[in-house]
Amino acid sequence: MFITFEGGEGCGKSTHAKLLKEYFESQGKQVVLTKEPGATLVGETIRKTLLDNDLSLEPHSEILLFAADRVEHVEKLIKPSLAQGKIVISDRYIDSTIAYQLGGRKLPEDFVRYVNWISCRGVLPDITFLLKVKIEEGLKRVEVRGDANRFEKEIMAFHERVQSKYLEIAASDPQRIKVIDTAKEIDIVQKEIRELAGYRA
Ligand code: TYD
Repeated sequence: MFITFEGGEGCGKSTHAKLLKEYFESQGKQVVLTKEPGATLVGETIRKTLLDNDLSLEPHSEILLFAADRVEHVEKLIKPSLAQGKIVISDRYIDSTIAYQLGGRKLPEDFVRYVNWISCRGVLPDITFLLKVKIEEGLKRVEVRGDANRFEKEIMAFHERVQSKYLEIAASDPQRIKVIDTAKEIDIVQKEIRELAGYRA
């Protein structure tokens, strides 16, 4: 069982991913909670480059760094964990690349889809939760945390393109991608996620 969480800045992915992990563990299941970018040793160094505010990266270099991070992630962590029968929950995966590098950066669609295809090594999520939050609200949350990264500092139009690309891919694959409205209390949102995830697990 491979579950991914997706969404724009400050949508609450990490909080809900952690709560879902606790839920599965309370049922005696083994869970690996992971994230992109930066879940492996190589990934950590790639993440630093990707999020560094002092660096200006070409969009083509950017997507290839995310792809390299993903190959390491899939081969060294996701595949072995799934093979051991564990539930894997990842905070971001292939849909982030579609939303940010295709939607946000406007890279050519064929290229983005090809890079995604190569980098996921055949491992696709069973279910994906797309957490929807108002862009302004998400960015405010991020601002409170401080130290905004290269993506969080992008202009509003970039975040709008990311959001609308996310909604577009969710509409094209409603079987896998579940859109969750986060404008409710955390435990109500989490209950909805648990029901949908538990049904598949
Ligand atoms: P991170 O600090 O992990 O933020 P978040 O809590 O929002 O996940 O930063 C990861 C950033 O990388 C995030 O802004 C989205 C971006 N990203 C892409 O642009 N493409 C990708 O394929 C992935 C995995 C992430």
